[in-house]
Amino acid sequence: MPDALYDAIGAGYAHRRRADPRLAEQIVEALGDAQSILNVGAGAGSYEPPDRAVQAVEPSAAMIAQRPADAAPCTQASAEALPFAAGAFDAAMAVLTIHHWADWRAGLHEMRRVARRRVLLLTFDAEASDFWLTRDYFPEIMVLDRQIMPTLAALAETLGPFEATPVLVPHDCIDGFLGAFWRRPETYLDPVARQSMSSFTRFDASDGLQRLEADLRSGAWRARNADLLDREALDVGYRLVRWEIGEPATSAPALRTP
Ligand SMILES: C[S@@+](CC[C@H](N)C(=O)[O-])C[C@H]1O[C@@H](n2cnc3c(N)ncnc32)[C@H](O)[C@@H]1O
Repeated sequence: MPDALYDAIGAGYAHRRRADPRLAEQIVEALGDAQSILNVGAGAGSYEPPDRAVQAVEPSAAMIAQRPADAAPCTQASAEALPFAAGAFDAAMAVLTIHHWADWRAGLHEMRRVARRRVLLLTFDAEASDFWLTRDYFPEIMVLDRQIMPTLAALAETLGPFEATPVLVPHDCIDGFLGAFWRRPETYLDPVARQSMSSFTRFDASDGLQRLEADLRSGAWRARNADLLDREALDVGYRLVRWEIGEPATSAPALRTP
């Protein structure tokens, strides 16, 4: 049940992966009127709305230890076996975690079982992404993402139709996940920043890092990505996926643009 990866790489996570207020606003809006919320794969507590009754679930002791003293109560458990009764919460949410679960389908069914009203995921749609970082420098991450990230079609097969909303990443996003630094490319050269991006822990990145460093020095990166430099926010491939429980399943997954 402990999460070996995050027990190993989790140190310092809470400093580098802080909730970004603009993403938090979108998550709170999607939670709607839910008053009791289960946060699965909760980590150090990012995106837990402070004005709701939140219960967190997290398998990694290293992550639980980083939860602030006033954070919501946290039970050490995994998504695949949630220790709560059916319908115990208005909503269940899971933020940037489903790709780490040993059996994401089982975890989603568990979220559905314990949620009365809605299930909310912030995830990454590898099929929708065309991010310069992975396309031009780290294709290994693209290959890995396609293996571990559930497709939107697979999510719909598992829990039925949902609404998916693109989550644009602000150029100065303070949550240091993989796509956060799309307009601050130098940050990817920083080993400390990379520590909180689990993709970089899974392969030898030295070749791509050397090429990125050279392109930043020569100006080739700026020339190739000039169209990004005055953008405020970018669709890198992150999606907020929401299932409303009890609504008739009438359509295929709907993609709503913001
Ligand atoms: C990238 S972190 C995200 C943490 C938090 N949701 C956030 O947004 O900062 C991924 C989290 O998923 C957790 N995790 C890994 N396997 C899990 C599982 N089977 N069930 C629930 N959480 C899991 C890890 O321990 C880690 O805390």
